[in-house]
Amino acid sequence: MNALSIKGLTKTYGNGVQALKGVSLDIPEGDFFALLGPNGAGKTTIIGISTGLVNKTAGTVEVFGHDIDKEPELAKTYIGLVGQEINFNPFERILDTVVNQGGYYGIPRSEAIPRAKQLLTDLGLGDKMESNGMQLSGGMKRRLMIARALIHKPKFLILDEPTAGVDVELRRGMWDYLRKLTSEGLTVLLTTHYLEEAEQLAKQVAIINKGQIIVNDTIDKVLAMHTDTGTTKEGFRGSRLEEVFLDLIRENNN
Ligand SMILES: Nc1ncnc2c1ncn2[C@@H]1O[C@H](COP(=O)(O)OP(=O)(O)OP(=O)(O)O)[C@@H](O)[C@H]1O
Ligand SMILES: [Mg+2]
Repeated sequence: MNALSIKGLTKTYGNGVQALKGVSLDIPEGDFFALLGPNGAGKTTIIGISTGLVNKTAGTVEVFGHDIDKEPELAKTYIGLVGQEINFNPFERILDTVVNQGGYYGIPRSEAIPRAKQLLTDLGLGDKMESNGMQLSGGMKRRLMIARALIHKPKFLILDEPTAGVDVELRRGMWDYLRKLTSEGLTVLLTTHYLEEAEQLAKQVAIINKGQIIVNDTIDKVLAMHTDTGTTKEGFRGSRLEEVFLDLIRENNN
């Protein structure tokens, strides 16, 4: 079963920008899938369409076999979304932010409260539950959004740059936690500009450039695409995946 199955997806925004030019992508159930690409490549647009926040121009999208046009509400229940932008109410107690999200999925408060407390504790926010969102640091806000996205026990978690601004130690803690959830059956779609994170976590990697998928393969196959000439290049070198990524994007832009 695919957590997400996208076919022939196109998107032209109102201003004429062609953000997606025929994207087809299957994300198999289980484990981490990384969707990588430079700024403006179309990652957030794919996520927006898949979660019902953005209207597509053409193509089909299925979430666990449910077409987002035919069964939009059902398709949405499978997904927990951590969006790229901070988007919770800053004046709300963070415990309420998570509990109220449960309300959208019909989870009674009596059930949502203990679950929210557990999630916030697991994500290192146990001592902040009574704080308002605006009292959190940038990295804490990201983790609050993850707790909120998990309240209805989704089978598919979509993370659009979840670690932007999260410090090294907390990032590791976050990934360890999410790894545990994937071992219990959660599927994770991740976009990130930290390519060493993707290299370590993802079993499968897709790279999108200018609205088109240019690579979609296992991490091992993608890493093997790097032709290491052995000559030391001047300047800063990144992770292996970073080198492959830059090669592929350069080739594709030519
Ligand atoms: N609401 C919008 N209206 C018009 N154009 C948009 C809108 N949202 C995105 N775009 C354009 O669509 C293209 C793809 O944007 P998108 O946000 O999907 O990229 P991305 O891969 O998520 O980039 P980033 O890594 O910077 O988050 C860009 O050219 C962007 O300017
Ligand atoms: Mg984006």
